[in-house]
Amino acid sequence: MLTVRPEPSLDPQLLAEIVREHGTPAYVYDARVLDGNVRRWVEAVGDPSRVCYAVKANYNLAVLARLASHGIGFEASTVGEMARALAAGIAPGRIVLGGVPKSPQAVAVGIGRGLDLVVLQAAHEVEAAIEASTSLSGAPARVGLRVRPGIRAGAHPSLETGRADAKFGFGPSEIRDAWEALSRTDGLRPTTLAFHLGSGLDSLTPYEAAIDVLLGIVGDLEASGRPVRELDLGGGLGVAYGDTGSDLEPADLVRIVDERLAGSGLTTRYEPGRSIAARAGTLVTRVLYRRERDGHPALVCDGGFTDFGRYSLYGAQHRIEPLEGRLEGPETVEVLGPTCESGDKLGTGRRLHGVQPGDLLAVRDVGAYGFVMASNYNARPRPAEVLVDDGGWKVVRQRESLEDLWRGETVG
Ligand code: LLP
Repeated sequence: MLTVRPEPSLDPQLLAEIVREHGTPAYVYDARVLDGNVRRWVEAVGDPSRVCYAVKANYNLAVLARLASHGIGFEASTVGEMARALAAGIAPGRIVLGGVPKSPQAVAVGIGRGLDLVVLQAAHEVEAAIEASTSLSGAPARVGLRVRPGIRAGAHPSLETGRADAKFGFGPSEIRDAWEALSRTDGLRPTTLAFHLGSGLDSLTPYEAAIDVLLGIVGDLEASGRPVRELDLGGGLGVAYGDTGSDLEPADLVRIVDERLAGSGLTTRYEPGRSIAARAGTLVTRVLYRRERDGHPALVCDGGFTDFGRYSLYGAQHRIEPLEGRLEGPETVEVLGPTCESGDKLGTGRRLHGVQPGDLLAVRDVGAYGFVMASNYNARPRPAEVLVDDGGWKVVRQRESLEDLWRGETVG
């Protein structure tokens, strides 16, 4: 079942007030939307500790702390993301070090840190975990293996991660040896098989196919006396970024998963990122000037692909609305960024004919994979981040200063 796209929660007057004080471009997040999205996941899954927010989607400390107040877990794909979660006050026992390529040192940090789970996804990671476990005292560290189920998930090619040719995880036939090696240790307890099929999925069918592959592996391990306790189904639920369409519902995913796993005795864990954070964020940018470009009108803004890269990277067309005035005219206006590259765009084919230089634009649904992918290219300071709540709003990350741009460098 599909839900109707929610109306933007951050009203234009509030956004205008924020950027009057703190300038543009600026990311503004609505804490109430974050809360609502977490609640939908927790209600669907039934246990907050089995909802592990994918930290990479938006790791502002205030965002992480807000999400943590719901009692959920966190999936960190790097030691840096783990450190951010810890810095936000999240206990190690609520953190999963996820199944993304890791150095032996990163595996050792994860194993030694008392995390909830460390997901290993290549032979050298298994070796590093076994090595690190020899110096553990106390309870064994829980580990899992990421499986590459060989499923096409229908995502943008850059965001497909479960195909047979993907770089992530073990092929189904490689799991048994790795699982047995982990089982033979005293310091590690293999509990979990994990997958992440891709991001921005618009169908639940790939999950069903992947579960069937994993159930085959579970049966095989069970037969050899090495039972699996848990499946980690990764993230992936898409958000309909355009003017039409609707988002996939966590409850629908959980229902089909639970049906598939009924009677198996397996528990489940999810790692949603986009479906929690995307709808909570808006990027506010100011139009610097208008020009005709190849016969099409274009708006050149002070925010571009260094601030928000999803159009340039994936052709993602997020809603872009004038803060004052309405959408009008044919779908021909391009929204361009200010940097030295012609491919620097926020979107194309927009009904923004009434927009004038100096006007503000709101790029919607940028709370996931927005600021975290911003860069300093062209020596542009990264934008401020602001969190809005019922009680008002607060800058939760200052706009970078010029001095921030060369922090850590020396002259000669
Ligand atoms: N778990 C693992 C192991 C992952 O690699 C990811 C995302 C997630 C969970 C969260 O997936 P989500 O629920 O957000 O789809 N920069 C891209 C997205 C890359 C996501 C990579 N992994 C974008 O802007 O669309």
